[in-house]
Amino acid sequence: MEINGRTRTCGLIGHPVEHTLSPVIHNTLAGLLGHNMVYVPFPVEPGRVQDAVNGADALQLLGLNVTVPYKSEVIGFLQEIDRLAYNIGAVNTLVRTEGGYKGYNTDMEGLYRAMISEDIKIAGEQIILLGAGGAARAVAHLCALKGAEKVYMLNRTFDKAEQVAVEVNRASGKDVVYPMLLQEHDKIPAGKYLAIQGTSVGLSPYVEEAVISDRVFYEKVHTGFDLIYNPWETRFMRYVQECGGKAYNGLKMLLYQGIIAYELWNEVSVSEQNAHIVYERLRAHFVQ
Ligand code: ATR
Repeated sequence: MEINGRTRTCGLIGHPVEHTLSPVIHNTLAGLLGHNMVYVPFPVEPGRVQDAVNGADALQLLGLNVTVPYKSEVIGFLQEIDRLAYNIGAVNTLVRTEGGYKGYNTDMEGLYRAMISEDIKIAGEQIILLGAGGAARAVAHLCALKGAEKVYMLNRTFDKAEQVAVEVNRASGKDVVYPMLLQEHDKIPAGKYLAIQGTSVGLSPYVEEAVISDRVFYEKVHTGFDLIYNPWETRFMRYVQECGGKAYNGLKMLLYQGIIAYELWNEVSVSEQNAHIVYERLRAHFVQ
């Protein structure tokens, strides 16, 4: 595309940002949809987030994504915040409005859209969620918001799972999240469950690790969704498949969180056909 006097800029703030795939998503979409927009990474040093947001506003940047470690810190510098993002306490997308930026959490809406695209249901389901860190906590809020019947939240540290359960149950007004220790997985009633892997275990380069390695657990899983996409196939996913379940990695979540951000910035709706084209470009970074 030609960059000219009317080109709008979006970007990513975080530390580090060098390995991001977000430019692939947004610049591909801009090309496909004929939008005069570019997306670039902006490394921001610790302690400079407020300067970065104010600077972006002064430069009239159309929007920003926010990544590690600033997803919570950035909230203090926003004009407005969307309800889901507020409940989760993490923002990954800023949209410029009059007077400042509005914050959203498209990570969770992205996960939801990725699940819809794979025909995975949350409403009315009993779900196993592994982990209670930032990512799993956000997933627990999403599950409650989208009408899950029960979420067994299994974590290495019980107290963290309990804290998240109290918080999510309070926010949703229902007893949805049930905290447990990882090793208590055998206490989950017999049945087949959707299991969402939200810990950092199995992330490259520790590709042979899984947070649970007991096959008895995987017999209870009809579908496994790992939020990790590097490696392409995690040990958790392989266990699920070895026990007859279907397994998905987190790349579609990455794809859709980007698409939703793009839709917010440009006030458009991205077709599934274009989503597929972007997905293939992302996938090319992992599989030959
Ligand atoms: P993120 O933002 O990616 O969620 P995080 O907030 O640091 O990162 O959370 C990491 C999650 O992975 C937590 O649930 C953590 O368990 P604890 O709450 O007990 O720390 C989990 N985790 C990390 N390493 C683990 C390991 N070796 N075994 C089991 N769980 C692990």
